Amino acid sequence: MRIDVLSAQPELLESPLNHSILKRAQDKGLLEVHLHQLRDKGLGKYNQIDDYQFGGGAGMVLRCEPIFDWIEELKSQRNYDEIIYMTPDAPVFNQSQANSLSLKENLLILCGHYKGVDQRIREELITMEISIGDYVLTGGELAAAVVCDAVVRLIPNVIGDETSALSDSFQDDLLAPPVYTRPSEYKGLSVPEILLSGNDRAIELWRMDKAIERTELIRPDLGKSRD
Ligand code: ADE
Repeated sequence: MRIDVLSAQPELLESPLNHSILKRAQDKGLLEVHLHQLRDKGLGKYNQIDDYQFGGGAGMVLRCEPIFDWIEELKSQRNYDEIIYMTPDAPVFNQSQANSLSLKENLLILCGHYKGVDQRIREELITMEISIGDYVLTGGELAAAVVCDAVVRLIPNVIGDETSALSDSFQDDLLAPPVYTRPSEYKGLSVPEILLSGNDRAIELWRMDKAIERTELIRPDLGKSRD
């Protein structure tokens, strides 16, 4: 997979992209990430990328020219499966979107800033809009890092233990069951007996029960699709 990210602050993405899963995927040759500075195609002496909004109102808006120029240049070099705009006024990202994006070849992610981008960019260039939750971040960079992490870990062979990604929370619209490790007894707190029983079938059933119990308690909205 190749991911291109367009941003006014690409350095915000450098650390998350160069550690952990995202780094491992690049080291294994399964992922290429290219960060692009929007200002490189900014206007005039000061590489301007934003401007006041028509009609008045607080906050600057990212202008058409640098973003059209960047996206048109990148599109002339390869086909993008999706051109994604990170913004809080969009449908909220979920595991099923992460699954389907993990099957793509080329993704282009545009990070918003300030008050957002000129609407013409959204209408003409963007094929998918993603919010990572109902709160407003300063820019789309951290949100883009979240999406990249969730997607890239699902690319086959990125995570060593294939089953571990499949049993994550949300893969079946269920939260994950509780997990324990050694010691089996700590400060008088013990691990549920069943996990030490060696009875795989009983353990699997216990985990499923706990996953359902947790989901109903913490995220009853997720459980709905199982009814
Ligand atoms: N940019 C600012 N806030 C955001 C959010 N919640 N999701 C995606 N991009 C954003």
